[in-house]
Amino acid sequence: MMILVTGGAGFIGSNFVLDWLADPSAEGIINLDKLTYAGNLANLASLEHNPRHIFVQGDIGDQGLVKKLLAQYQPRAIVNFAAESHVDRSIHGPADFIQTNIMGTFNLLECAREHWNTLESDAKKQFRFHHVSTDEVYGSLSATDPAFTESNPYEPNSPYSASKAASDHLVRAWFHTYGFPVVTTNCSNNYGPYHFPEKLIPLVILNALNHKPLPIYGDGQQVRDWLYVGDHCSAIREVLAKGELGETYNIGGWNEKANLDVVKTICQILDQLKPRNDDKSYAKQITFVKDRPGHDRRYAIDACKIEKELGWRPAETFDTGIRKTVQWYLNNSQWIDGVVSGSYRDWLQKQYH
Ligand code: NAD
Ligand code: DAU
Repeated sequence: MMILVTGGAGFIGSNFVLDWLADPSAEGIINLDKLTYAGNLANLASLEHNPRHIFVQGDIGDQGLVKKLLAQYQPRAIVNFAAESHVDRSIHGPADFIQTNIMGTFNLLECAREHWNTLESDAKKQFRFHHVSTDEVYGSLSATDPAFTESNPYEPNSPYSASKAASDHLVRAWFHTYGFPVVTTNCSNNYGPYHFPEKLIPLVILNALNHKPLPIYGDGQQVRDWLYVGDHCSAIREVLAKGELGETYNIGGWNEKANLDVVKTICQILDQLKPRNDDKSYAKQITFVKDRPGHDRRYAIDACKIEKELGWRPAETFDTGIRKTVQWYLNNSQWIDGVVSGSYRDWLQKQYH
């Protein structure tokens, strides 16, 4: 038995693949990833000789390839992580976001539905399409608004969140129209190992260590609800195993923090674990820069539904998760060097072609 994971060389996808395969009784994984700038097979280096992991470089929008993989491996589930994921990039160039997040998801749904229609009744009943989405589809909260529940209206504000919202709508429609067995999860900001350093937390850790400015957009009072990536992986496993078809589940960390506080916390941890040569705090490197256009002020997830219905709660607090994360970056300078120099891409060419 196999499951098909898309985007499994990215940040969350690779954490999910490693986590899933750590259980010897779990199914094998076919990992379909295009290896954009965000895909990094070095994340999966420990699986190099693992026969339960089959890596395929390719696009979720490639109909011929997706159909071939479904027919060849007959996966009992698809977990769709593949996406363009960075809000700032979507502002500079939205086209790839429309292509992958909307058209790619559409193609995956259509190929999977066609495949599902050919299955025998037991296999058909077991089949799942799990779509991984974001809290950004709900838009922006004021300081006093209640946290997002699954019934909040969709109000996306960036090209990224609009493209994710569109994909969520397609997934929903495939359930209602065709009875295709889907579940969707909308989660908050993840952080942890293998996070690409274009996103706030890894960028700040790397810039701090490299004596560079720590850029804070606007006033730094935007709030995000931080979720340790290992907790996200365990939530997806729960939803895949026990989630109700056609339902959506919000996944959050119960960890609302203002960006400036997140950055100050990282500085404090680095001050303890790897003090600067001059013994001054890394906080000295904090620099306020121009704000992101259309910057959402606050996200917060009400994760009561998944707790009540599936018994899932995050294991990490922000304090425990951020400490582990900073330590991971300190311990993995080779991974960082590969990402920063871009050499991880050469290594992939050598290793897999
Ligand atoms: P990421 O950018 O780190 O990784 C995305 C992966 O998808 C990369 O490996 C990339 O090569 C691959 N990919 C891109 N286009 C593809 C295509 N057309 N075909 C096949 N593979 C393709 O993203 P991430 O942070 O790991 O996010 C994974 C998913 O989770 C995304 O759907 C994202 O919207 C969602 N999400 C992320 C967060 C977060 O905080 N990172 C929070 C909520 C939801
Ligand atoms: O909420 C879930 C979303 O979280 C996911 O859907 C996205 O894929 C993921 O990228 C993330 O989006 P954000 O825009 O919230 O993440 P990012 O790390 O880019 O920024 C976090 C906050 O920090 C945001 O308010 C912008 C701010 N920021 C970011 C960067 C890169 C800065 O102040 N300075 C920076 O240099």
